[in-house]
Amino acid sequence: MHLSAVLQLFLQLAGKSGGRMMAFPVKWSLCNKGRRQSPVNLEPQRLLFDPNLRQLHIDKHRISGLIANTGHSVIFTAGNDTVANYDGMQTPVTDGMTNRLKAKTKKKKKNCYIFFIGPAFWGLINPEWSLCNKGRRQSPVNLEPQRLLFDPNLRQLHIDKHRISGLIANTGHSVIFTAGNDTVANYDGMQTPVNITGGPFSYRYRFHEIHIHYGLHDQFGSEHSVDGYTFPAEIQIFGYNSQLYNNFSDALNRAQGIVGVSILLQVLGDLSNAELRMLTDQLERIRYGGDEAFVKRLSIRGLLPDTDHYMTYDGSTTAPACHETVTWVVLNKPIYITKQQLYALRRLMQGSPDHPKAPLGNNYRPPQPLLHRPIRTNIDFKTPKVNGKSACPTMYREVYYKATSWKQH
Ligand SMILES: *[C@@H]1O[C@H](CO)[C@@H](O)[C@H](O)[C@H]1NC(C)=O
Ligand SMILES: *[C@@H]1O[C@H](CO)[C@@H](O)[C@H](O)[C@H]1NC(C)=O
Ligand SMILES: *[C@@H]1O[C@H](CO)[C@@H](O)[C@H](O)[C@H]1NC(C)=O
Ligand SMILES: *[C@@H]1O[C@H](CO)[C@@H](O)[C@H](O)[C@H]1NC(C)=O
Repeated sequence: MHLSAVLQLFLQLAGKSGGRMMAFPVKWSLCNKGRRQSPVNLEPQRLLFDPNLRQLHIDKHRISGLIANTGHSVIFTAGNDTVANYDGMQTPVTDGMTNRLKAKTKKKKKNCYIFFIGPAFWGLINPEWSLCNKGRRQSPVNLEPQRLLFDPNLRQLHIDKHRISGLIANTGHSVIFTAGNDTVANYDGMQTPVNITGGPFSYRYRFHEIHIHYGLHDQFGSEHSVDGYTFPAEIQIFGYNSQLYNNFSDALNRAQGIVGVSILLQVLGDLSNAELRMLTDQLERIRYGGDEAFVKRLSIRGLLPDTDHYMTYDGSTTAPACHETVTWVVLNKPIYITKQQLYALRRLMQGSPDHPKAPLGNNYRPPQPLLHRPIRTNIDFKTPKVNGKSACPTMYREVYYKATSWKQH
């Protein structure tokens, strides 16, 4: 590379390139469009104390390698099998986690009599699903109140309130509402997309679909749990990063690709969320796997409970291929579903009328280990005073779910 090329690169990075911008490869578009770029200025007043963070470990043994002047930079590269022959084989420098990971993923394979292959075996069936077993940032998780960190940088979650039409389907694995696209939604003409912004997000996301997870009995059903408590059902609202990616499937395995907004459902007498009723009213028409029905003018925002408080963590999709690209937001209050609505859900079958197979319910993945991930929240609390001065940001130990009488059983 020559000086002119390097100069162009720096001009580009500095945002001063003007007409030259077009000359750069499309695959560098993140340098311009990205909203989570490095380096940054580390502002002391922005620091958050996270007690989950561990000591950084880098192996101390010596290795050989090559130092090079690349024309852009000075780079030392660890010798590999080709280069480092002078020393023979080298032990890689790791963060000390590799061996533990190997030990954990070596799981016994057992025959199970189940209707479809259960979550514990996903990664063993299809190599492309290996994240389901090997991943260390998987979802769902149990939200432990004592792990919550208050983060004052978190903003209010915003979801557009206008109504959209789409299709609700029984896929044989799940109940999914998908926003109508140009092909499907012609009845309404072109639809304005529903944007999901604010919250912990750096980007604007576009609503794509809703999944419903539920149990065949009230004790189980939700994927996320709070302090070990699972709810009878959970609604998950998914959107994709429309500033970086073209569509949902493209964003699924890309950085910052997906958001999942989780709403936990609780039974409380005859109370029901009105928008939820628009979905459950169609269940009779999607009794069997492969059935779909039209849902007209649903407000996604209308599904949200009446709270600004949420918890957020980085995780994955809860079905294969378990991509670890999902920023989860779990709202800190349930919405309500009636016993009749739950009954209608529990009547859904996986198969066709001829071979209905098993009920669709219990379509939840069990909680995955949090390991060292933080769960951040915008739930502020009275900062405790220490010697008359307010203490540094610390953990919040009470959640709405704990503080009120949400337990119905
Ligand atoms: C080994 O390192 C050299 C120099 O860094 C590099 O050119 C080569 O591609 C590497 N080979 C492999 C197999 O990674
Ligand atoms: C439109 O939505 C339907 C039903 O969800 C889907 O089958 C189809 O692939 C979508 N078309 C495009 C262009 O995304
Ligand atoms: C959602 O975002 C798109 C840009 O992707 C914008 O054109 C549209 O106006 C936004 N919708 C609303 C309701 O603000
Ligand atoms: C999604 O976007 C990718 C990349 O632009 C494209 O290859 C693919 O065909 C798109 N898929 C759909 C369903 O539109």
